[in-house]
Amino acid sequence: MKEETLLKELRKNPFFLAPMAGITDCPFRSFMRKRGCGIVTTELVSAKSLQIGNERSYQLMSFTKDQKPVGIQLFGEELEALAVAAQVVEQKGADFIDLNFGCPVPKIVKKGAGSAVLKDLCFLQKILRTVKSSVSIPVSIKVRTGWDQHSRNTHEIAKIAYNEGIIWMTIHGRTRAQAYSGQADWPYITEVKKQSPIPIIGNGDLTRAEQVLRLKRESHCDGMMIGRGCLKNPWIFQEVNNSVESEKFYMKVLDQLKYYLENFYDEKMFLLQYKKFSTWYSSGYPESAHFRKTVFQKREKKEVLDLVEDYFSKIDFKTKQDTAYEPSLMQGHG
Ligand SMILES: Cc1cc2nc3c(=O)[nH]c(=O)nc-3n(C[C@H](O)[C@H](O)[C@H](O)COP(=O)(O)O)c2cc1C
Repeated sequence: MKEETLLKELRKNPFFLAPMAGITDCPFRSFMRKRGCGIVTTELVSAKSLQIGNERSYQLMSFTKDQKPVGIQLFGEELEALAVAAQVVEQKGADFIDLNFGCPVPKIVKKGAGSAVLKDLCFLQKILRTVKSSVSIPVSIKVRTGWDQHSRNTHEIAKIAYNEGIIWMTIHGRTRAQAYSGQADWPYITEVKKQSPIPIIGNGDLTRAEQVLRLKRESHCDGMMIGRGCLKNPWIFQEVNNSVESEKFYMKVLDQLKYYLENFYDEKMFLLQYKKFSTWYSSGYPESAHFRKTVFQKREKKEVLDLVEDYFSKIDFKTKQDTAYEPSLMQGHG
């Protein structure tokens, strides 16, 4: 996709779905596009794995037309592998490449990839130059606010990214040292945005529509990226776009999800993902712990579907407790 067309898409719907490994797979991205999100990206894919033709990494890049515009996210620490992988992504027909400089996972950081690149801006610049010169599709980046509190350098990265022709930068408002603790630093994101020569997508802890809209106004970010928030509130993209369904029925949402999962996965994977999402949606509602335990004990598809239907048909939408900081979701690759 041409840069201008992609920027038009950003203005049309500035609410991105955050990449989340193991969650935002091909069916989930179609499902969330259907439910009103804007631009989507795959979870991080290893450049090295693509270079050596690893089948599972190729699978992670699967997308369907209804997801467009769709980006494929790459990570790596070897320039040659990144250049080859970028070309693979372009040939695959993705609309843009997103480079991951936010992953805090030790296995990845130790090799010098993910958020480790934030410590060496000369190397970061080399990566941007290499990838940009290997492809003609747009390239974006996703960063954390810095390696740690004493080395926050997102202002500088914005300038480098501008000089290297990067289309936009997403900022997850935490340092690598913070992992998923504390709160996303929206005042810092606002400061960076004020001086940034390229569009900024703000990210971190966006869980309620009115908060997303308020922070968008206050930070002047060009886009807002929502991750864990849509796992707890599958209506959030409709709410921010002011197009929410008149009645909120979880069974309608889960039937929609079922359609996309069944089209993509075999029964084993279908059950795994369907159980995972239905238990996330149940969090904060009465007896959700019991529901979670029981649903994961079931093996037969019919038993799982019946149990889910039984649980959600009894739920009163308004009884939800705040579960914004559930420990099970306080980890990830960005
Ligand atoms: C389970 C999980 C997996 C993640 N995987 C990725 C990933 O593959 N690439 C990436 O850039 N960020 C990844 N992230 C980080 C999210 O994209 C996002 O930056 C972070 O969760 C903060 O946003 P949120 O508070 O809206 O969830 C992941 C986060 C979680 C919770």
